[in-house]
Amino acid sequence: MMIRFLSLLGNINRVVMLFVLMGALLPSMRVKAQTPEAEKLFQECKACHNINEPKLIGPSLAGITQRRTTEWLVKFINNSQAMIQAGDPIAVKLFEENNRIPMPSHNFTEAQILDILKYIENGGKVAAEYAVAADTAANAKQAMLDQMAKTQAEREARLSDLERDANRNFRTTFIITLLILIIVLVDLFGTKIIKARFVHSVLIIVSLFIMGEIAYKEASMLGRQQYYQPDQPVWFSHKVHASQNQIDCKYCHSTAEQSKSAGIPGTHVCMNCHNVVKSGKLTGTTEIAKVLDSWQTGKPIEWIKVHNLPDHVFFSHAQHVNAGKIDCIECHGDLKTMDVVMQVKDLSMGWCLDCHRKTEVQFASNSFYNTYEKLHEQMKSGAIKKVTEDMVGGDNCMKCHY
Ligand code: HEC
Ligand code: HEC
Ligand code: HEC
Ligand code: HEC
Ligand code: HEC
Ligand code: HEC
Repeated sequence: MMIRFLSLLGNINRVVMLFVLMGALLPSMRVKAQTPEAEKLFQECKACHNINEPKLIGPSLAGITQRRTTEWLVKFINNSQAMIQAGDPIAVKLFEENNRIPMPSHNFTEAQILDILKYIENGGKVAAEYAVAADTAANAKQAMLDQMAKTQAEREARLSDLERDANRNFRTTFIITLLILIIVLVDLFGTKIIKARFVHSVLIIVSLFIMGEIAYKEASMLGRQQYYQPDQPVWFSHKVHASQNQIDCKYCHSTAEQSKSAGIPGTHVCMNCHNVVKSGKLTGTTEIAKVLDSWQTGKPIEWIKVHNLPDHVFFSHAQHVNAGKIDCIECHGDLKTMDVVMQVKDLSMGWCLDCHRKTEVQFASNSFYNTYEKLHEQMKSGAIKKVTEDMVGGDNCMKCHY
C-alpha cells in the first residue's frame, strides 16, 4: 500500500516524502509544550466533551491525537462546519454519527489548539511544572474574586440604603412644601397675618417649583426599571452557563452581531446539551425537566423580558456590538456573576447620550465613516484628536426616535 502510494508520487523526492509521512503518522510529536492556559481554553470544550468516557454531546477525546492528524484537528476545531460542507469524509461521518449536532466554531490560534491537544494528551492534567504555580495563582484569584464580590455586595447594600433614604426625603420634602403652600394660601385669602404681599408670592413660587421638580423626577422614573429582576419560568443561570461552563454569549444570543435584537435562544439550543445533561448541581432534575418538557410538548418557554425600551426608541445590537465593538458587560453588567438576570443600568436617554459623548468610534477603520470628509481632514491636521459617537450623529434625535 505504501509502495503503491509512493510510486504514484514517483517523481517527488522520496526522502522528503518520508519525512512528510512520518509527520502524519506521529502527529503528537509536533504538538508543542503545554501551558497552564490550556486548562482554561479547554473549559470551552467541557460542556460537550469528556477526555475519557462517557461520551457527552461530542465524542470522548481520549487518544484523539493518535486517531487524527494535527492538521485535521486544527482545521476541525476552528471550523468543523466548513469541513463538513467541503465534504471531508471523516468530518461528514462524525457529523452523521453525532446526530448532526454542529460543533460551534472556535476562533483559536493554531498555538492555542496545539496547547489544548497537549492538555488532552496529558489526560486533562496541567503539566507538573505548572501545577503548583497554577494552584497558588488560582487561590489568589479566588481570594480576589471573593473580596470583590463582598465589596460589591456591601456597595449595593449601601446604595439601596441611600436610595431608600433619598426617596423618604423626597416624600417628606414634598409634604412639608405642600403644607407651607396651604398655609400661605390660607393666610393670603383668610387670616392675613403676614402683611407684606411679596412674601406670599415668593413662597408660592418656590413651593410650586420644588413640588414640580419632585413630581417630574418621579414621573420620569415611571416605566424605568433599574434593578428589575423578575423570576423566570425556568431557573436558568448565566453564572452556571456563561461562567462555570464558559459558553460564549453569542452561542445563545446568536443574532447580537447582525441584527437589532440579540435574541433569546429557543428550546432546541438548550437541547444541544440537555439531551445529555439531565441534572444540575444546584437544582437537580426539577429545572432541566421543564426544558425537556418544553421540547417534548413543543411549547416554548415563556421567558419574561427584563430590559425594555419604550416603543418610540430605536436601538440596535448590531450597531453597538459589531460596528461599535462594545462589550455586553458595558450595558448589561457582569452577567457571568448572576444566577438571575438583573437590569443594572437605568436605560434612560441620559445614559445613552452620556456614552455617545465619551465613546470614540472606530473612525479610521470603519468605512461607514468615509463620508465624514471634514472630520477626517480635522483628524489629519490635528485639530481634533478623536471622534466620538455624538460627532457622527449619535446626538441626533432622529437616530434614536422614530
Ligand atoms: C456544543 C458542543 C461542543 C463543544 C462546545 C465542542 N465540541 Fe467538539 N464536537 C462536538 C460534536 C457534536 C462533535 C462531532 C462532530 C460533529 O457533529 O460535527 C465534535 C467533534 C470534535 C472532534 C472530533 C472528534 C473525533 O472523534 O474525531 C474534536 C477533536 C473536537 N470536537 C474537539 C473540540 C474542542 C477542542 C473543543 C473546545 C475548543 C470542542 N470540541 C468543543 C460538540 C462540541
Ligand atoms: C446557554 C445559553 C445562554 C448563554 C451562554 C447566555 N445567555 Fe443570556 N439568556 C439566555 C436565556 C435563556 C435568557 C432568558 C432568561 C433570562 O432572562 O434569564 C437570557 C437572558 C439574557 C439577558 C436579558 C434579556 C432580557 O430579557 O432583557 C441578557 C442581557 C443576556 N441574556 C445577556 C447575556 C450575556 C452578556 C451572555 C454572556 C456573558 C449571555 N447572555 C450568555 C441564554 C443564554
Ligand atoms: C450599548 C448597550 C448594549 C450593548 C453593548 C449590548 N446590549 Fe443587549 N440590550 C441593550 C438594550 C438597551 C436592550 C433593550 C432593547 C429593547 O428593549 O428594545 C437590550 C436587550 C438585550 C436582550 C433582550 C432581547 C433583545 O434583543 O431585546 C438580550 C438577550 C441582550 N440584550 C443580550 C446582549 C448580549 C449577549 C450582548 C453582547 C454581545 C449585548 N446585549 C450588548 C443594550 C445593550
Ligand atoms: C453548551 C451546553 C449547554 C447549553 C446550550 C445549555 N446548557 Fe444548561 N447546562 C449545561 C451544563 C454543562 C450544566 C451544568 C450541569 C451541572 O450542574 O453539572 C447546565 C445546567 C443547567 C440547569 C441546572 C442548573 C443547576 O446547576 O442546577 C438548567 C436549569 C439549565 N442548564 C437550563 C438550560 C436552558 C434553559 C438552556 C437553553 C436556554 C440551556 N440550559 C442551555 C450545559 C448547557
Ligand atoms: C456604552 C456606550 C453606549 C451606550 C450606553 C449606548 N450607545 Fe449607542 N452607540 C455607541 C457607539 C460607540 C456607537 C457607534 C457605533 C459605530 O462605530 O458605528 C453607537 C451608535 C448608535 C447609533 C447609530 C448612530 C449612527 O451614527 O447611525 C444609535 C441609533 C444608537 N447608538 C442608539 C443608542 C441608544 C438608543 C442607546 C440607549 C438605549 C445607546 N445607543 C446607548 C455607544 C453606546
Ligand atoms: C442616543 C439615543 C437618543 C437620542 C440621540 C435622543 N433620545 Fe430621546 N430618548 C432616548 C431613550 C432611550 C428614551 C427613553 C428614556 C426612558 O424611558 O426614560 C428617550 C426618551 C425621550 C422622550 C420621552 C420623555 C422621557 O424622558 O422619557 C422625549 C420627549 C425625547 N426622548 C426627546 C428627544 C429629543 C428632542 C432628542 C434630540 C435632541 C432626543 N430625544 C434624542 C434616546 C435618545
